[in-house]
Amino acid sequence: MKRLIFRAALGTTLALASASALAQQPIVIKFSHVVAQSTPKGQAAERFKQLAETRTNGRVKIEVYPNSQLYKDGEEMEALQLGAVQILAPSTSKFGPLGLPQFELFDLPYIFPNREVLHRVTLGPLGKELFRSLEAKGIVGLGYWDNGFKVMSANRPLHTPADYKGLKMRIKSSKVLDAQMRALGVQPQVMAFSEVYQAMQTGVVDGSENSLPNFLTQKFYEVQKYLALTYHGYDGYAVIVNKKFCDGLPADIRSTLDKAMQEATSYENELSLKENDEGVAKIKATGRVQVYDITPDEQVALRKALLPVHKEMESRIGKQWIDAVYKEAAAVGVRY
Ligand code: LMR
Repeated sequence: MKRLIFRAALGTTLALASASALAQQPIVIKFSHVVAQSTPKGQAAERFKQLAETRTNGRVKIEVYPNSQLYKDGEEMEALQLGAVQILAPSTSKFGPLGLPQFELFDLPYIFPNREVLHRVTLGPLGKELFRSLEAKGIVGLGYWDNGFKVMSANRPLHTPADYKGLKMRIKSSKVLDAQMRALGVQPQVMAFSEVYQAMQTGVVDGSENSLPNFLTQKFYEVQKYLALTYHGYDGYAVIVNKKFCDGLPADIRSTLDKAMQEATSYENELSLKENDEGVAKIKATGRVQVYDITPDEQVALRKALLPVHKEMESRIGKQWIDAVYKEAAAVGVRY
């Protein structure tokens, strides 16, 4: 009998000990992304990790997996929904396959005439409304991170719309980008980011569009001959978290993480501006690719060829979303 009581007492002590050990286990948050750690997104993910871990006194551990190490495009959204990873920061061009084509709004060529209009959208009510539409998919939006205004690269010079005709170019999984490329006579090919370098190297594609920091850090200059500074469209990220996981966090942790994310977001947006500004010189300094501005006339011609994509994509995106951006632009005196 005594032995039984002893065993029961020992069992309780062990259970309590393991419960307290469990209570001390940090909450692990896996944050997966597809770009290099040295990009604005990569550095901001590290900043978020550092802020979150310090301010929760180690109750939260953030594991950042850059460079498609954990999941690549086409896999990561499903992993998030299944709870295999908790945070992602995909390009807004990658939400269409999830059943959220309104995010392809960001892909419309020339939709954001400048950063001011862009931030009126991402930091304003429209950005919040877009985030609300994520919830039905079991996802919560935490912030918008800029990547930059895009440039076009290929193995032949791209000046006028006619120069694009017949090229095979890699795009992200967005119907708007598909329409944009087709408007130029390009054969678009949807491809995961991690596969682009090799596809350029082997001639599977002739070119692509991307931000300057991505072009630089992926060393696309090694496998492309010409880089046209067209700035014809925008690319940016939505930082997202699995909703169930997020709802299950203790309230104090949640608010500390929200604050850390706000700071990481401001950091990312400033850094992205700087890295885009410096990107041209850094790419030129490699001496591997010819970098050039297109002339004002060429810019007018490109714009003329691409603006009809807005109308064409109205039914995909929803006219109300496009009109809402036009309204933000009109508020600061911009007309299309
Ligand atoms: C791309 O696929 O080109 C980009 O979205 C990659 C990234 O996350 O910047």
